[in-house]
Formats: sequence, structure tokens, C-alpha cells
Amino acid sequence: IPPGPKPWPIVGNFGSFLVPPFILKGLGQTGEDAKRSLNPLSPQLALMELSKIYGNILSLFVGSQLIVLLSGYEMVKDALSNRPEVFSDRPDVPVITILTKRKGIVFAPYGPLWRRQRKFCHSTLRNFGLGKLSLEPCIMECLAVVKSELQKLSDKAGGAGIDLTTLISNAVSNVISSISLGQRFHLEDQEFCYMRHLMSRGLEISLNSAALLINAFPWLYYMPFGVFKELRKAEQDITVFLKRMIAEHKATLDPNNPRDFIDIYLVEMMAQQETEGPTETSFTEDYLFYIIGDLFIAGTDTTANSILWMVLYMCVHPEIQEKVQKEIDTVVGPGRTPSLTDKGNLPFTEATIMEVQRMTVVVPLSIPHMSSETTEFRGYTIPKGTVIIPNLWSVHRDPTVWDNPDDFNPTRFLDEEGKLLRNEHFIPFGIGRRVCMGEQLAKMELFLMFTNLMQSFTFKLPKGTSPPSLLGRFGLTLAPCPYTVCVTPR
Ligand code: HEM
Repeated sequence: IPPGPKPWPIVGNFGSFLVPPFILKGLGQTGEDAKRSLNPLSPQLALMELSKIYGNILSLFVGSQLIVLLSGYEMVKDALSNRPEVFSDRPDVPVITILTKRKGIVFAPYGPLWRRQRKFCHSTLRNFGLGKLSLEPCIMECLAVVKSELQKLSDKAGGAGIDLTTLISNAVSNVISSISLGQRFHLEDQEFCYMRHLMSRGLEISLNSAALLINAFPWLYYMPFGVFKELRKAEQDITVFLKRMIAEHKATLDPNNPRDFIDIYLVEMMAQQETEGPTETSFTEDYLFYIIGDLFIAGTDTTANSILWMVLYMCVHPEIQEKVQKEIDTVVGPGRTPSLTDKGNLPFTEATIMEVQRMTVVVPLSIPHMSSETTEFRGYTIPKGTVIIPNLWSVHRDPTVWDNPDDFNPTRFLDEEGKLLRNEHFIPFGIGRRVCMGEQLAKMELFLMFTNLMQSFTFKLPKGTSPPSLLGRFGLTLAPCPYTVCVTPR
């Protein structure tokens, strides 16, 4: 297996997450390892540092589970893109399995069932742009709410800073809600806010609390106290809400006029049940339920945090904000709002979006993969069932492919004439067969939200405040540390 730091008995390298570096050193870990102990606040950085010692493929253990960490573009591409048959499975993590039954798309095992569901969902999302159900108006409607709320908030704040998190998160989850459930919720809608809260809290608990112990002792999930009880309640309430949505759709379905993703899936389900028989097809209401959950979970925090990062970077680099605004003013003008047709004509703005994504990689350690068979890779044996973690953060800070990777410089994505360059090393959505299914939708949202915000407002940090650390907060996604901004309508 690939080299790596010495694991501890029973806990493996997981121990390094919990123990301060000076104790690690005292316990015989090498000075270098101890210095680079796996800081849970920025594991992507600590793991990148570790790869400088052991190389771009290295082994870690959590308990007795082997984890292989891949760093740098070549290594990640070689595994995920050149060996997809072996490295596209997902690990069976007990807490995730309890919550998702390994159905849906994100955590489903690699195989024909996943392939069929993903193919259908992917093409449905793509075709949304073509038919009556169009993505752009959907996004623009949610954006209009953000703009009018921002206007109100900035009037009310009278020059004080505003926290944009709730506003942006609600707008982004409303986009997913319009697409999948066919309805937008009011910002103050209690049920919607409660569902949003449950989804992010549920994930936070499962990834970042004592509920992690469920992975070692699955029966803990059923304990009637603490985070275990909270997690079960979140699962129950989300289930009731989504199942009710699906039932309402079924009762009012007109197969000739699908209103949203649920309708399109139900029509396909009925067609398949007719041709393949109701028990043969994998298109079931149960599966639909998990897919809708996936769209919310995978499509909300990722996109919302990307937008929050963009606003923060514009505050920290006002000269870039000015340049973006100038480009939008020249190309779009003041008389209309930017739309997707402007995409090819705003290269500096696009390069800025990409550069913020490169600097901040909101899914820094991707979603874990797993090897589905024992294989030889780069001279090492990777046993079946090894968890594979691609460090996407390291890909975007790899000094062998990016000049001065720690500098924020949108022009790196432009040629001498200012035209946008394709860059194969830019993979914030992952690479290979498991590449983000919502990439096209996310790119539309980022473009429309960023250009519209830049056209209508100028963002600044409140006078006398310094920016928060640009390393962000590692959770399910990499979020900016809390900040407030002064918003001035233009
Ligand atoms: C998976 C990034 C937005 C749906 C992923 C992965 C990454 C990613 C890195 C893991 C790839 C892998 O496992 O190798 C992002 C970023 C986003 C974003 C940076 C926004 C800026 C979205 C949106 C949706 C979505 C809006 C839904 C509409 C999914 C799904 C998967 C996924 C379903 C699982 C794919 C599979 O396992 O086959 N995303 N994502 N994502 N994403 Fe996204």
C-alpha cells in the first residue's frame, strides 16, 4: 500500500485529529508529522502538507479502515478519469447508509442502478433549459427576491454591515425547490426554513458530532437522547415533508404537462412500470424521494457558499470588483439585467468567478470514493474497499500547474487578448464518472447571481474591520468564516 504516517493502535491516524502536535511529538511521531497534525479546522491544508512528505498518493488509517489520499491534478485524474471502473464506488459509511439506504445518486454504489438513475436525472436537468420548464427564469425569479431584499436591508442598515448568509442560502435552495418541487417558498415560510435547517443540521450532526460514533456502533442511532435523537427527528420530519410533496404531485399529475422534476420522474416511472413491470424497474417513489433529498443536499450549500465567497473576495479585492462592474456596464449596459446570452461576452467576469472557485474549492476533499476491486495503481496495491479521497484543494493549489497558486489573479484564466482560456486543471466539480451532476446548473446560478449582484450593488467590508481568515470553515463544504458587508446600490 502507499506510504503514510504511522497509525496508532485502534484509532489509526484519526488520533492525530484529536491530539495537539506537541503531545504527538512526545509520543514518537516524527517532528514533521507532528507539526502537520491533521488540523480538523483545515484538513485539506494539513493533508496537502502531508503529501509533501509522503507524495501525491499516501495512506492513512481511521481505525483499521485504509484511506488513500490523492493529491495534485495528475494523480487525481489518473485514478478517477483513467481508472473509473475501479475508483468510482462510494464507501459504505454506516451513518450515511442509515440515512440514505444508499439510494439516490450521491451515496449510491457504483453500478447499473446508479448509472441509470444518474443518466435520467442528468438529462432531465439539462433538458430543463430546453423545454417549457426553463432554468434561467427559475433562477432569475429567485434572484429578483435577493435584489429587492438587499435593497431593503441596505436601506435599513444605514451603512452597517449585513450578513448575507440566510438570504443567499434561501435563494439557492429556492432554485432547487422550483426545479424539483415546482414551488418557491417565501423567505419567511416557516416550514421551508425548518426543512432547510433540518437538512443542514442533519448533515452537520452526521459529519461533525458525537453521531460519528454511529459509524463504529450503528445501534447508537436509536438512542433516545442527544444528537442521536436530534438526527432521528430530523430524518423523520424531512421524510414526512418530502413524501407529502411527492403524494401531492401524484394526485394532481397531468402526464402531458409535467410541472417539475418530480412530475418528470413520475411519468418516467409509470412508463417503465408498464414496460418492465412494477417490481422490475428501479424507478420507484422511494428512489425519487432520495434523489430529491440529494438535489437539496448537494445543490444548496455548495452553490450558496460559492456566492458568499465571491462577495467576500470582491470586498477584499475592490479593484477586481470595479473591473468586473466596468465590464458588465460596458457589455450589458444599465437598461437590462445580465442573462446567459451574455456569458461569452464577459470573459473577465467569468475568469473572476473561476478564480474565486479555484481559491476556495468549496468541496475541498470531494466526496469519498471507494475502490471496487483490488488493483495495482502507480506501483502500489490498493485493496478492494479502500476509501479514496481526492484532495481537490491540492489540485487547485498545485504549484506545478498554477503560477503563484496562492495569489488571487483572475487573468490567469485569460489569454493575451483577454479571451477566456480553457484550463483542464480547473476541476472544482470533480472529474470522472462521479463528476458533479449539477455542474451545468451550478455554473448558470453562479454566473447569473454574480453578474446581477455586481451590476446592482457594490460590496465593501464595514469601515475599520479587517477581512475574516480566507481559509474558511471546513464542514460539509468549505464556507467562508462569518462576515458582514456594507451594500451600496449602484
Ligand atoms: C457531486 C461540486 C453544485 C449535485 C459533486 C462532487 C463535487 C461537487 C466535487 C463530487 C464528485 C466526485 O465524487 O468525484 C459541486 C460544486 C457545486 C455543486 C463546487 C457548486 C458550486 C451542485 C448542484 C447540484 C449538485 C447545484 C444539483 C442540482 C451533485 C450530485 C453529485 C455531486 C447529485 C453526486 C454525483 C454522483 O455521485 O454521481 N459535486 N457541486 N451539485 N453534485 Fe455537485
